[in-house]
Amino acid sequence: MIHMDRITKDCLPTPIQPGLALTALAPMQDVTDLPFMRAIAHYGSPDYFFTEYFRVYPDSRLDKHILRSITENETGRPIFAQLIGESVPDLVRAAKELSQYDIAGVDLNMGCPAPRIYRKTWGVACSAIRLKSTAF
Ligand SMILES: Cc1cc2nc3c(=O)[nH]c(=O)nc-3n(C[C@H](O)[C@H](O)[C@H](O)COP(=O)(O)O)c2cc1C
Repeated sequence: MIHMDRITKDCLPTPIQPGLALTALAPMQDVTDLPFMRAIAHYGSPDYFFTEYFRVYPDSRLDKHILRSITENETGRPIFAQLIGESVPDLVRAAKELSQYDIAGVDLNMGCPAPRIYRKTWGVACSAIRLKSTAF
């Protein structure tokens, strides 16, 4: 049995309103950048934010534009860094780099259905491959 209250308490940032369901601004590529998050925070922050996804591949560097939404986050609310890619060692490397910044956690995108993404076996294709490799 999974105790959701315990998971929330141990793993997620403290909610704005204790006792209420947590809220998050869903990550949206080319939308949820720093100015967008500032605008949302102006009207009322969710409990936490997500960055746009950092593209991860051999020799990739953390995108400076996306990194700004972490380093210049003035919303007062924690932010999770989203990654997309298929190379586990490179995803681990990027997650380690990101852990030097003020993030609440790392979120791996395994759901993006855009053809330009899944053709690289990223996003939803990544989860299909993982599921396939664990299928009986
Ligand atoms: C323009 C656009 C870009 C999106 N980009 C991402 C993304 O980069 N990463 C991700 O996990 N989801 C992305 N999504 C999915 C959203 O985060 C969200 O899961 C989806 O819109 C469903 O939200 P809802 O359950 O609140 O309706 C995107 C959605 C839209 C409309």
